[in-house]
Amino acid sequence: MASQETIALAADHAGFRLKNVLKDEIEGAGYATLDCGTDGPESVDYPDFAHALVEALAQGRASRGVLVCGTGIGIAIAANRAPHIRAAVCHDVTTATLARAHNDANVIALGARIVGEEVARDCVRAFLTTPFAGGRHERRVAKLGQPAKPRKPANVPV
Ligand code: RB5
Repeated sequence: MASQETIALAADHAGFRLKNVLKDEIEGAGYATLDCGTDGPESVDYPDFAHALVEALAQGRASRGVLVCGTGIGIAIAANRAPHIRAAVCHDVTTATLARAHNDANVIALGARIVGEEVARDCVRAFLTTPFAGGRHERRVAKLGQPAKPRKPANVPV
């Protein structure tokens, strides 16, 4: 039997309820999960939980991840500081599907105060099942893990 893919989840206080709903959804779809917290409504700092998930992926304890905060934005910014992370804030099936197909996103970030539970489930299902399209996207995605190369804009006088 093929080994089960493990999906890491992490959230702040604004996202922990939705994170738990999504954890059940992911396990129901046949994946293993790794819960990086938080587990309650006490106010916490979203970068701490993003970093726990980033570390889990770096160590190979999970291959992909789901992040949840109030908007999905802060926790995605925190995760995207790491070069091995491609975290996409998604609001619907289209963004979740294209984040996988075009960007090979390995993390989906959702806003618990922005999207409803059913939309979030749909997003995660699309994220889990959509393959990377490759082709013309390969070269662009490869550049995402490289440091920015400052270039002098052509139309700016020095
Ligand atoms: C917490 O109140 C909120 O700022 C956080 O969940 C998130 O939305 C930040 O981007």
